Amino acid sequence: MAHLLITGGAGFIGSHTCLVLLQGGHSLVVLDNFANSSPESLRRVGELANLPTAGRIGVIEGDIRNPADLDRAFTATGHVDGVIHFAGLKAVGESVQQPLRYWDVNVNGSRLLIEAMQRHDCRTLVFSSTSTVYGEPQTFPISEAFTTNPLHPYAQTKLAVEWMLQALEASEPGWCISRLRYFNPVGAHPSGRIGEDPLGIPNNLFPFITQVASRQRPLLRIFGADWPTPDGTGVRDYLHVMDLAEAHALAIAWLLQHQRSLPVLNLGTGRGLSVLEVLQAFEACTGLAIPREFVARRDGDVAKLEGCAERAAEILGWRANRSLEQMCSDGWAWQSANPRGYGC
Ligand code: NAD
Ligand code: UFG
Repeated sequence: MAHLLITGGAGFIGSHTCLVLLQGGHSLVVLDNFANSSPESLRRVGELANLPTAGRIGVIEGDIRNPADLDRAFTATGHVDGVIHFAGLKAVGESVQQPLRYWDVNVNGSRLLIEAMQRHDCRTLVFSSTSTVYGEPQTFPISEAFTTNPLHPYAQTKLAVEWMLQALEASEPGWCISRLRYFNPVGAHPSGRIGEDPLGIPNNLFPFITQVASRQRPLLRIFGADWPTPDGTGVRDYLHVMDLAEAHALAIAWLLQHQRSLPVLNLGTGRGLSVLEVLQAFEACTGLAIPREFVARRDGDVAKLEGCAERAAEILGWRANRSLEQMCSDGWAWQSANPRGYGC
């Protein structure tokens, strides 16, 4: 059992990870400013984890860019064995419009977190990175050895933090760091109690589909029918958010046990799916028709991202095993029970 600090733990991936960690008996402090989430997610995580063996969760409302908030989080339970750092901004288009905000929250925020870790003598860290650091590769699947080519400020800020962490490890002994490059996490906990709750109009495919299914939006706009893919629509490597959550529990346990860093790890299924394939699976699984129209490509999109996650399988023994059908049915269970997200 470890004492862990989870930044951004109220968000989509963070909340599912908190649940897995609590069920693993860990005790958690979440630091979140709720810029893109609600404390209700953590209340429900606590409810779901109500097992005799579950750990405990404390919540601190604060900003990773505020050293006083960080100090409060580190001292809340006496000491912190490790940190999982989810807090950040993640919308590609917004990052192009507001690059300085992305550099501030994602890079400056991460630097201030690392400095707080130094102050509190904690040197074990799992960092949320993204498969968009690979840019637009021409061969697949994408392994960790591929050259990085971040094409927008979001990916640039994530890669900048990866580099900052690499330099830190080289300059100061004792750091145990894991950089996880996620492909496309979707779905929700099968209970339908926690899930993805985007503010305003969803940017991402899955929450858009579920909002069309619940009649909150009239139709899905498919961005491009002319991509160089088998059916002309964009291909991504979608993985179930519970598989991703479990990868975090394995990564932090590995670091605490081995007391050294992990190499960069891709987290995906290794199988790319087109927008039309996802739509077909969602309709088959829910019995609901999703109206759609084809529109022009979205700025900043690439044809295909499909990862090779063999390294994570070899080192952590992790595989994203949940099926596309589970992603669809769990995502729909969440959306249909909570049409307005945590606003209910
Ligand atoms: P999310 O927006 O749901 O969660 C991020 C959390 O961080 C939110 O609860 C938000 O309120 C909090 N936060 C934001 N700025 C903060 C600040 N300054 N101080 C404290 N808290 C702050 O996003 P998510 O989908 O759960 O993503 C988590 C992490 O994973 C992010 O760093 C994201 O870049 C990365 N990631 C996400 C995806 C994806 O497709 N969802 C893919 C690759 C990487
Ligand atoms: N798409 C549509 N219509 C929509 C939304 C998306 O056709 O309304 C298409 C996109 O063009 C793309 C695919 O669905 O082909 C997936 O798009 P998403 O927006 O769901 O996902 P992205 O791959 O663009 O990006 C997401 C996150 C990033 C993260 C990345 C990791 O937004 O933060 O996955 O691969 F880094």
